[in-house]
Amino acid sequence: MQAVARIREPAHIVREARGGRVGVAFDGAPIPGTASDADVAWLGSLPSLWPEWLGDRSFAEAHGTRFPYIAGAMANGIGSTDIVMAMARAGMIGFFGSAGLSLGRVTAAIDLLQAELGALPFGANLIHSPAEPLLEAGIVDLYLARGVRRVSAAAYMGLTPHVVRYACTGLSLTPDGRIHRKNHLFAKISRPETAARFLAPPPAELLDGLVRDGKLTAEEARLARLLPLAEDITVESDSGGHTDNRPLGSLFPTIAALRDRLAAQHGYTRPVRVGAAGGLGTPASVASAFGLGAAYVLTGSVNQSSLEAGISPLAKEMLCKADLADVAMAPAADMFEMGVEVQVLKRGTLFASRAHKLRDLYKTYDRWTDVPAAERAKVEKDLFKADFDAVWDGTRSFWNGRDGRQVEKADRDEKHKMALVFRWYLGKSSRWAIEGDPTRVADYQIWAGPAQGAFNAWVKGSFLEPAGARSVVQIARNLLEGAAVVTRAQQLRTYGVPVPEEAFAFSPRPLS
Ligand SMILES: Cc1cc2nc3c(=O)[nH]c(=O)nc-3n(C[C@H](O)[C@H](O)[C@H](O)COP(=O)(O)O)c2cc1C
Repeated sequence: MQAVARIREPAHIVREARGGRVGVAFDGAPIPGTASDADVAWLGSLPSLWPEWLGDRSFAEAHGTRFPYIAGAMANGIGSTDIVMAMARAGMIGFFGSAGLSLGRVTAAIDLLQAELGALPFGANLIHSPAEPLLEAGIVDLYLARGVRRVSAAAYMGLTPHVVRYACTGLSLTPDGRIHRKNHLFAKISRPETAARFLAPPPAELLDGLVRDGKLTAEEARLARLLPLAEDITVESDSGGHTDNRPLGSLFPTIAALRDRLAAQHGYTRPVRVGAAGGLGTPASVASAFGLGAAYVLTGSVNQSSLEAGISPLAKEMLCKADLADVAMAPAADMFEMGVEVQVLKRGTLFASRAHKLRDLYKTYDRWTDVPAAERAKVEKDLFKADFDAVWDGTRSFWNGRDGRQVEKADRDEKHKMALVFRWYLGKSSRWAIEGDPTRVADYQIWAGPAQGAFNAWVKGSFLEPAGARSVVQIARNLLEGAAVVTRAQQLRTYGVPVPEEAFAFSPRPLS
């Protein structure tokens, strides 16, 4: 239906004098099937709709973007500097996927982004690392030293001094009495209890400790008590990677209501934005997120199959073939012992079932030598392609270079040793996919959520179907343009226009 596609023109809603049908007319063009303008009664006009306006205008103002859209962080540099640069140049935000990378690699990435992007907005990830607090502290030191102004905090269950320090450093009062925030923290959450921590001012004991340690000034700590820790909260529903698998339709309104309650309780005087992530892979899903009230949307899975993603062409080809149900939950490398799981691609790789096998062994046995010999032989042959002891030797050297306490603990505790070896496999399986090791396809660990399959079905037969054509910007622009069309169709429907089903379908097209 043409009236829906012409989102950038005001549409006049009219009723036929005879017959009483409601329809749409553009300036000078009568409703199709009627004789002339004289035959219609004007009911009202729907103004133009721009994809730029789908979210909260304060998002674009606070972050200097054109669109209310973010390409979320993807660990190990899969969320590459190329993604971040392309997004910034197209008026959106990309978060660099620093999790899992060494401080040296993150530093090099930040230096490159700042040299290339100048004042254009971009961000980087801050992942909660309970096992490696020194790394988390080092990343915050780096972001503060380099002046990284946007940081996406993820995997936090409780707050750490590091994340509080980042958000509160540089808080100051402007001459007209407003609080100026230098560092913008985006908190990714999937539970109300975590959201509540970021929606409240930081706890007094953390602020006091940071002042005592000389990490914050007394004035910064005073101002921090008047603001939420994060002014952008990303509600993450069923997504690729770490996820609680909750549906956006249930989770988002709960968090938005929590935001409203806490904003009133603390008397905040400026908007606290709530954005949506998880499962966004089609125009309709993006439109529905904005319909729920999302200030902005954030995608993940769909960007991993993009040209710019830092993962091998082989892995991208596998992602491009995924259907909706080709994903599964599997044990996570980083919080393996705690039973945490991540959502991964199931089609074309055995990773999910193999990782579950390792988790079952870990839960059942206290040491590797307690595992029945036949099981041990199978794991060594199929998964490790090496002896347990040989893997341990390599793992030991790795941890000696990174955090020697892990090795000391493993020397005292055989179960910990087994966990470190199993985590070697879980960690390597991501690397094999990133590097495209052809001998390890069956072990590829590729994080992905149902959005990937939904996206693939949507772009089938369009210019975005081949992996080689999927630029992260065209993905974003088409999702937003399509979401605007879907929104327009729904608007017209609510005015009584008989909108046909096909008006809700938007086919991808190159957008400039
Ligand atoms: C391959 C991959 C790696 C990811 N790595 C991270 C990460 O390191 N840090 C993070 O905050 N989120 C990470 N995510 C989550 C995304 O930033 C985003 O929140 C999520 O993918 C959105 O849901 P969707 O996959 O349904 O689009 C990752 C997602 C994927 C697909």
